[in-house]
Formats: sequence, C-alpha cells, structure tokens
Amino acid sequence: MAKTPVWMDVDTGLDDAMALLLLSACEDIELLGISTVFGNQSVERTAVNTLKICELMGIDVSVAAGASKGILEEQIDYSKPLALDVHGQDGLGNIGNTLPEPNKKLSDLCAVDLMAEKIRNCPDKVTIVATAPLTNIATFILTYPDLTDRIEKILFMGGAVFGGNIKPSVEANMGHDPEAAYIVISSDIPKVMFGLDATMMCPMNDQERFAMRDNGGKVGAFLCDALQHYSKLYQDLAGLPGAVLHDSLPMAYLIDPSVVEIKEFPVEVELSNGITKGCTVTDTWYRSGKENNLKVAMSADREKLIKMHLDAVKRYA
Ligand code: BDR
Ligand code: CA
Repeated sequence: MAKTPVWMDVDTGLDDAMALLLLSACEDIELLGISTVFGNQSVERTAVNTLKICELMGIDVSVAAGASKGILEEQIDYSKPLALDVHGQDGLGNIGNTLPEPNKKLSDLCAVDLMAEKIRNCPDKVTIVATAPLTNIATFILTYPDLTDRIEKILFMGGAVFGGNIKPSVEANMGHDPEAAYIVISSDIPKVMFGLDATMMCPMNDQERFAMRDNGGKVGAFLCDALQHYSKLYQDLAGLPGAVLHDSLPMAYLIDPSVVEIKEFPVEVELSNGITKGCTVTDTWYRSGKENNLKVAMSADREKLIKMHLDAVKRYA
C-alpha cells in the first residue's frame, strides 16, 4: 500500500511531542518534513525542541523554522515567565536540557518555502497535520495559491465548538493567531478540526504515563518525566486525572479514523477585537443557512488513543 505523504507543523510542546511519537511508529506515513512556529514557546525554542524530539525518536526529516508571531498579533515576550506555564519554561516540561543538543541543523529555507518545495515535488497530494497556531499554514496558502490543490486535507488541533482554554471561548492555537485561523478555515481545502470538545476527553492518567517509562526505553522515560509538570497542571486546574494529549488526536485520526466521532458544520472564526477574538463560532443548529465548511471532531475514544501511545512507545524498549 502506498504511504500517505504528510507535512507536520508544530510548536513543540509536550503534546506535539506525543503526536510525533504516534507518527514515529506509523509505517503507513511518509513524513516529508516539519515546520515549526511560535506558540508554546518562541519559534527559536520550538525549532530546537522539535530537532531534539526528532533525534530522540529517530525521525530523520528536514525541519524548518517559520513564523515568530501571529499575522497581525504582537510578538509574545517569551523572555518573561509565561502567564500560564503549561509546557514548562523550555516547552519540554523543564527537562529539555537533559536531551543532547541536536546534531541536525535547521533547513536553510524558511518554513513555507520548504513546504512548497516538498509539496511541489510530491507525486501525490499531501496531508497537513498542524498542531500549533496556523500562521505557517495560512502564510503558505497566501504565498503559494498554485499549490493549494496539491493538499489532500488539513487536520488541525485547535478551536472548540464549546468553551476555550486561553479565554472563555477561545482555544490557544486559534487565539494566538485568529487571522491565520480565519484564512485556513475559510479556504477551500478540506479540513478537520480537532478542538477541545474531543481532546479534553483524552487525559492520560499517571498510571498510563508511568507505563510509558516501564515499556518505552529512553523515549518512554523522557516523555514520562517531561509530562509530569503538564499532567499536574491538568489535575490542579481542570480536575482531570492527567495530561491532555490535544495534539495527538489529528495524528491518531490519520492512523485510525475510528478514534473520533466527526460531524460537519458551518464554522467561522471571530475576528472582532474583544474577549471572543479567535473563537471558532460553530453553527450547531444550522441556523445560518451557510454551507458546512468544516468537519469537526466532537468526541474521542480515550482508551483507543492512550493504547496507541503505549503501543507506539514499545518500539523504543
Ligand atoms: C494547544 O495549545 C498548545 O498548548 C498545545 O500544544 C496544543 O496544540 C491546546 O490548546
Ligand atoms: Ca501544539
């Protein structure tokens, strides 16, 4: 069977690292490359984190750095402690320094130019898995409109039908760059949104986290320890049993679509300034009369998702 060509866009990030774990174990995917963007940390930091995680997991592809800020947003000052320290100050649970400095260098090309080169040269249409603010993907769409029909679909983690995590009705990846979210969601490219409605159903509890250490060699040990901080935060803040693996869900869906339940809706991104800027406004009652433009993961099978990680990590035992 032909492999599915995939481009990944990440802001590594603990749950981004877990998505890369799923990818590393999937033999049906041909990873063309990875772009990095600001989000969980500065773009410089997420690029280094991505190189480190790729080397840890034996993922050998080109990595290119992209946007350092949202299209119209102010640059976040990452030199100061973050308001909510979700991924640790280094983006890897404050233990990124236990991984060796990466041997591989970043691509000389910027993210969108490397994407364009790889997508143009790929004989098949490419699936994009995006687990970060959508700035690089939106910039690609605007810069290379001739290549958008070479994209099979965009699977992105972000948004929510109901609720939010950085503001009452705004999810982080959308809120960090609402204009980019608007450009991507209103594009004609087929898309599936994996938002908080589904991802928040999938915490990994501490017993499962420790099972990664017991069965996953140095990869399992690193992920178990790195996720400790993040897991405690979800326990303290959200009263959940552990680490919510948001970014794993689009990758898991690519590997096994039965992991989520999907519905289709008209969805628009709110761009007015104010508390709802970046909200993915979803017409769940189909009152607007607008066409459905987005598939949305409404729920997820937690047991299946966790088992995929525990199986994936075993190859490093
Ligand atoms: C998203 O924001 C980041 O903190 C995570 O990596 C994930 O992509 C969850 O809202
Ligand atoms: Ca992410």
